[in-house]
Amino acid sequence: MNNPFKSVPIRSYEITPKDVYFSRRDFIKAAGVVAGSVALAACTPNAAELTDAPEGVPGVLKTDELGDPANSLKDITNYNNYYEFSANKEAVAPLSKGFTTTPWTVEVSGMVAKPRTFGIEDLLSLFPQEERIYRLRCVEAWSMVIPWNGFTLASLLKLVEPTSDAKYVRFETVYRPEEMKGQGSPFYPWPYQEGLRLDEAMHDLTILSTGIYGETILPQNGAPIRLVVPWKYGFKSIKSIVKIELTDKMPDTLWAAVAPSEYGFYANVNPQVNHPRWSQASERRIGELSRRETLMFNGYGEQVASLYDGMDLSLHY
Ligand code: MTE
Repeated sequence: MNNPFKSVPIRSYEITPKDVYFSRRDFIKAAGVVAGSVALAACTPNAAELTDAPEGVPGVLKTDELGDPANSLKDITNYNNYYEFSANKEAVAPLSKGFTTTPWTVEVSGMVAKPRTFGIEDLLSLFPQEERIYRLRCVEAWSMVIPWNGFTLASLLKLVEPTSDAKYVRFETVYRPEEMKGQGSPFYPWPYQEGLRLDEAMHDLTILSTGIYGETILPQNGAPIRLVVPWKYGFKSIKSIVKIELTDKMPDTLWAAVAPSEYGFYANVNPQVNHPRWSQASERRIGELSRRETLMFNGYGEQVASLYDGMDLSLHY
């Protein structure tokens, strides 16, 4: 399998929404140039979607390692799950506009030899930004392909040196109800929290993302820093992280606290284990008309299946 990991220079840290896109004419020219060299071509059902690829994306259209085209920046930044702002996916972008992301610190603590609080600018200078084009599969059975920029969570954890007692990693989103109106809702145990087993956290596919399409990540996608775990349902990929804690206890998670029979700790993408209220066997890729079959571990089984050897994944859902 091709390694989707490529180096990309990230631009200034300032939040600059990218609203200048390829014109249709530029796209047609670009598509003509790459038609012979990239598995994606005019026959791709949603090729037209790519007309709004951001400026600066070179003539080669981005695809993941399965050859699936990346979603447009417009889709990625306008169809979001971020309950701190709204439960309406299309309302998150306008409601999160102007969300304060500087100054920002991430405290890394708990069972570590060297606890440390990092400013976001420390993280950006300590860990060079790379690009990984990952599929994001939401539990609600839609998916997107997103060119993330970021760095491995493992590189950060190695720096703080987890002790031998540490078994899990707990993550926490910022709690700021004055800016995040959804946090006024009594139905959820705020702040949003999530967790991974330490070996999942140390896996090379697990990244902290600070950018998308080479641009600084926007509030609706979890600015200034969010987790991305591509073989798990999207709700594990917690946004706007302020705290990372190493622990010996399986962390509580927001969705498992709200509905334990519907959302487990592991949340591995698994077409054979249905959500109690709907099937997980297929998904709708945003921008496509027909549904696709969902792949075990979201298509990353070769890299991650061994983490779960001997486990019954219908019990540990
Ligand atoms: N993180 C926080 N803090 N709050 C949320 O509501 N939603 C999750 C996850 N991270 C969520 C979150 C869900 S359900 C999904 S599918 C992804 O973010 C969506 O990420 P995206 O909007 O960048 O596509």
